Amino acid sequence: PRPILLTRHGESRDNVRGRIGGDAVLSEAGELYAKKLANFVEKRLKSERTASIWTSTLQRTILTASPIVGFPKIQWRALEEINVGVCDGMTCEEIKKNMPDEYVSRKKDKLRYRYPRGESYLDVIQRLEPVIIELERQRAPVVVISHQAVLRALYAYFADRPLKEIPDIEVPLHTIIEIQMGVTGVQEKRYKLMD
Ligand code: F6P
Repeated sequence: PRPILLTRHGESRDNVRGRIGGDAVLSEAGELYAKKLANFVEKRLKSERTASIWTSTLQRTILTASPIVGFPKIQWRALEEINVGVCDGMTCEEIKKNMPDEYVSRKKDKLRYRYPRGESYLDVIQRLEPVIIELERQRAPVVVISHQAVLRALYAYFADRPLKEIPDIEVPLHTIIEIQMGVTGVQEKRYKLMD
């Protein structure tokens, strides 16, 4: 069996303010997580010389990967966070107040709701197809450093969770989800590296 490690980027400055979208750098806590993650990965994958680190093209995932040395890194646009379109840079409270109809539509059907000029969860699931094909094809371990919505979709694929649950799956910050693909099926472990 070979592991796939899934993690969100370390806490970003936008996470601290509750803003969605954007391309923020890490907070201090996020930087600390990047170091802890590097330690974990270097220990866990020490003997796995062919392992690779996959990130999105957004700074917060690239910065989270940066303390990890000794493994090739690949950037995927397909691993970018859900595109929130006109809501980029807003907080949930601001959307509720300034765009109440959008807020309500999303609440009613988070899976299908598409942000104006942005994406829905279904759109994200669809654009992840090439990433999933490549993950399935890999023989070596892969560390995927991405974003909340994207990781919900990837996790659901490997853990065989129904489509309708995807937008509410818990993928907390600063936690590694390890998935082992063996002949008998899929096993999962979670490592919470910090609060
Ligand atoms: O808040 C962090 C974040 O990654 C946002 O950038 C993104 O819009 C959101 O989570 C996705 O989660 P949800 O679909 O629950 O809003």
